[in-house]
Amino acid sequence: MELAQNWTRKHLIGLEELSREEIEIIIDTARSFKSTFEREQKKVPALKGKTVAQLFLEPSTRTRIAFEVAAKRLSADVVTLLGSTSSQKKGETLKDTALNIQSLSADMIIMRHSAAGAPLYLSQYVDIPIINAGDGAHEHPTQGLLDAYTLLDCFGSLDGKRITILGDILFSRVARSNIWGLQKLGASVCLAGPSTLVPESFRELGVDVCYDLKEALVDSDAVMLLRIQHERQTSTHFPSLSEYTRLYGLNKQRSSWLKKDAIIMHPGPINRGVEIDSDIADAPNSVILNQVTNGIAVRMAVMYLCMNRNSRVQAELPR
Ligand code: CP
Repeated sequence: MELAQNWTRKHLIGLEELSREEIEIIIDTARSFKSTFEREQKKVPALKGKTVAQLFLEPSTRTRIAFEVAAKRLSADVVTLLGSTSSQKKGETLKDTALNIQSLSADMIIMRHSAAGAPLYLSQYVDIPIINAGDGAHEHPTQGLLDAYTLLDCFGSLDGKRITILGDILFSRVARSNIWGLQKLGASVCLAGPSTLVPESFRELGVDVCYDLKEALVDSDAVMLLRIQHERQTSTHFPSLSEYTRLYGLNKQRSSWLKKDAIIMHPGPINRGVEIDSDIADAPNSVILNQVTNGIAVRMAVMYLCMNRNSRVQAELPR
């Protein structure tokens, strides 16, 4: 395998700058790591002796735990700093926090921040890899990668597949990473939802924009629901949550408009009864929890590759 040998990037900031080949290297590496999940001994020694620092300055359940499980499966030590308990509360700058984490012997920083561009900014000052775990409404690259991985698991190839992303696109970093990632892998992407949350200007990214839900869903191989991101909205973009649910919530009737073998996706956290009915979230064609599990494999791959870029040593990769 020549995966790490062909990987040259130190940081993972977004999917916008990755090529199709780079995305495929991550997904192929993730497949190798996923093959260990059924083993009794799930750990591999790939990052033995390394310390991964998690700097999470915004809430997270899935991403933070998946990165921690992934790092531990790679035999790394993990330390976590949360916004609520960091010295940023005492006035320390983000740059100083990161430089101190580096001086405390961290070999990599996994970072979530409410400001778009924060990981790119830090990558210009520290010597260790920075992995973006979500920055404002900019990108959430490992979410986009695990979504692509899950879709590829279901369909084999994304060439010619149509994926509809439904909901709060305007404030969604998940939508942006998926727009870049899925199109690079050959899928067509349709954005659907109220016009206040799905601006026409997104067409410039090569996607379709559709305000008629039935029209958006009928030809779709997958629908990816997004929750309403109240924490990023400074004004009201629709009359009420119940109005949003009435017009755009995915229920049994609306999901019947999808193609026969279509799948239901959601990056989480789910707001049951708002953007998705509970029975649809738990339906046999929902892959929401598969996405979460695949997030471990994808994050193992990203950490492994960024720590072993240009490496000719492939011995640690499971076969
Ligand atoms: N999908 C996602 O980013 O979930 P968390 O906010 O729980 O990490």
